[in-house]
Amino acid sequence: MEKKKIITYQLICIALMVVVLVLALQTPDKNEKTESKTISNQEVVLSVIHNRKSVRNFIPQKKVSKENLTTLVKAGMAAPTAVNKQPWAFVAITERTTLDSLAEGLPYAKMLKEAGAAIIVCGDLTKAIEEYPEYWVQDCSAATENILLAVEVMGLGAVWTAVYPDKDRVEFVKNILDLPETAIPLNVIPIGHPSGETMPKDKWKEENLHWENW
Ligand SMILES: Cc1cc2nc3c(=O)[nH]c(=O)nc-3n(C[C@H](O)[C@H](O)[C@H](O)COP(=O)(O)O)c2cc1C
Repeated sequence: MEKKKIITYQLICIALMVVVLVLALQTPDKNEKTESKTISNQEVVLSVIHNRKSVRNFIPQKKVSKENLTTLVKAGMAAPTAVNKQPWAFVAITERTTLDSLAEGLPYAKMLKEAGAAIIVCGDLTKAIEEYPEYWVQDCSAATENILLAVEVMGLGAVWTAVYPDKDRVEFVKNILDLPETAIPLNVIPIGHPSGETMPKDKWKEENLHWENW
């Protein structure tokens, strides 16, 4: 009887050891986990960058929520700026009449008629660096690219349509949106829900990469 108890006890111990061993093998060690997470984040970010494309065809006038537009502008404001001046202001448009008015005067932004919304990225000269106010263009361009990438990852579509440096277009947009003298619209970004599929362009050209010197 005593011997039977001992054998039972030994069997339970062995079973427990097997369970512990199986669990240990199933749990990846901490470093391994971090590495696979990093790789997958890298893949996601790079695929968003490479899949971004100008989308000019939208499901006609399907709305884009204010929540989504706020998310997009937040992405814009995360961009780097010279001396961290953030010399910008963003005008988000959801009103149909304003989108149509902008389309009337901008020859290369007719897709505004079908877009559900638009963001106008403006340089704000009151916040620009005194010695080099022109940096607002690079700063606002970086913000624009961030917005376009966020659009891509959110399953929306958008395209950068040029305003600055065309003087007539700048004046036109300023008038429609009632911008102060110190605000300069860099572009109008029509945003909508894509209709059909637009393929990204492959722009990789090895000859444009120079190593160490030209
Ligand atoms: C400074 C700038 C101005 C642009 N202006 C217009 C425009 O007025 N209308 C338009 O349809 N696309 C415009 N585009 C979008 C380009 O045509 C587009 O980025 C280019 O053809 C490459 O295609 P992808 O964006 O699909 O990679 C502009 C892009 C940039 C960067």
